[in-house]
Amino acid sequence: MIEKIAENLVLNKTKEFLLNYNLIEGIKPINYSNNVDMLYVHIPFCRSLCPFCSFNRQLHDTKLEDLYFSLLEKEAQIYYNNGYKFNTMYIGGGTPTVNFDHLISFIEFIKDIYPIREISIESTYRELDEDKIDTLYKLGVNRISIGIQTFDKNLSKNIGRAWQNKEDALEIIKIANEKIKTLNIDLIFNFPSQTFEQFSTDLDILLENKVKQITAYPLMPSIYSQLFKNIDRKRERQFYNILIEKMYAYKYIPSTPWCFSRNNIELIDEYITKFDYYIGIGTSSISYINENFYINTFSIEKYARLINNNKLPAIMKKSIPIKSSMELFLLNKLFALGFKKDDFIRKYNKDVNELNYILYPLKLLGYVKDDKDRIILNKKAFYLLSSSMRAFLSVLDTLRERFRKMQY
Ligand SMILES: C[S@@+](CC[C@H](N)C(=O)[O-])C[C@H]1O[C@@H](n2cnc3c(N)ncnc32)[C@H](O)[C@@H]1O
Ligand code: SF4
Repeated sequence: MIEKIAENLVLNKTKEFLLNYNLIEGIKPINYSNNVDMLYVHIPFCRSLCPFCSFNRQLHDTKLEDLYFSLLEKEAQIYYNNGYKFNTMYIGGGTPTVNFDHLISFIEFIKDIYPIREISIESTYRELDEDKIDTLYKLGVNRISIGIQTFDKNLSKNIGRAWQNKEDALEIIKIANEKIKTLNIDLIFNFPSQTFEQFSTDLDILLENKVKQITAYPLMPSIYSQLFKNIDRKRERQFYNILIEKMYAYKYIPSTPWCFSRNNIELIDEYITKFDYYIGIGTSSISYINENFYINTFSIEKYARLINNNKLPAIMKKSIPIKSSMELFLLNKLFALGFKKDDFIRKYNKDVNELNYILYPLKLLGYVKDDKDRIILNKKAFYLLSSSMRAFLSVLDTLRERFRKMQY
């Protein structure tokens, strides 16, 4: 009940905020401000496209990739020319390793101009092998995140990943788990045809193989799809209970309600919860800086035109009112299991009591704990944050889907 109320509040607020916008045609470079350390890089190419996937992706095409990577370098260079000093890079997709040579020279280029200390890369096992993992390791990649979604043969087929093979996947997982500081495996739960047994077995396989980090996402369909209307929340909750029980039984440590690690590990998928501000480069990337939210174009043609005119390729800019920014901070930080009150004061120059209209009921219900200098999320509230974050990301996915279809 409380979960449903929270989810609907987040859904409606995010819809109001994200789905009302004016389109723009690029912006002038934004000067560096000293609180932006994180660079997200989007590489949209994949060998095949999975129907459930909510990200901006397109089929692997060598010619287009030649152009795309040269544009990415130019966009990174614009930020460099404007004083940026990123120290963390998250390369997401798509499947960034699908054009491995380009990826490697791009990472080298970024490392030459920025003091990068941490690199995280998304991939699938079929775009990795022992040599590639070794090359990434030597380049300083600290985290590889491999999407599996499920090891089950039939379910893989149902969700459009008939190419998956458990034995081949495990071979790559074992190599990466040994070599790379953090190997993360993504699973998804609550596909309509998925059974609790299938999900439970998927988790067991990862736990038996001592995978360092596991991220399990609830299925997040776009909010106007039939699938969204038909989300079975009761089933979602049951899947979530299986996840929590297994993670605690094996003493995995949560960093968010979806992400669990064998040891305390810093880098996670939801970097938006860790970094107050970030810059995204590449088509469809999101930047959030000083209460302004930007989305890059989804069209490679437009991307090329804007970048070649020395413009940043944003097609949407939204200024976030301070109250909404504080609410977003609260959602992100509670999702990251809590925050220091001082961090809120430093960011907003206001006391965290400003958020008492949300925090007070949460405290009364035992969902959060006020621990003098910190606000801590209690385990009881994990599912509440899971469904609220799903609502937030579903709206974001809806926006992505809209722009992807428009090719704007
Ligand atoms: C952008 S994908 C890249 C990973 C890689 N290309 C792959 O195929 O596994 C990152 C992760 O997002 C998650 N994801 C994609 N679409 C989703 C959706 N509709 N709902 C929930 N999770 C989703 C999947 O778990 C996936 O591994
Ligand atoms: S899940 Fe991965 S491989 Fe499938 S379409 Fe999305 S990004 Fe591409």
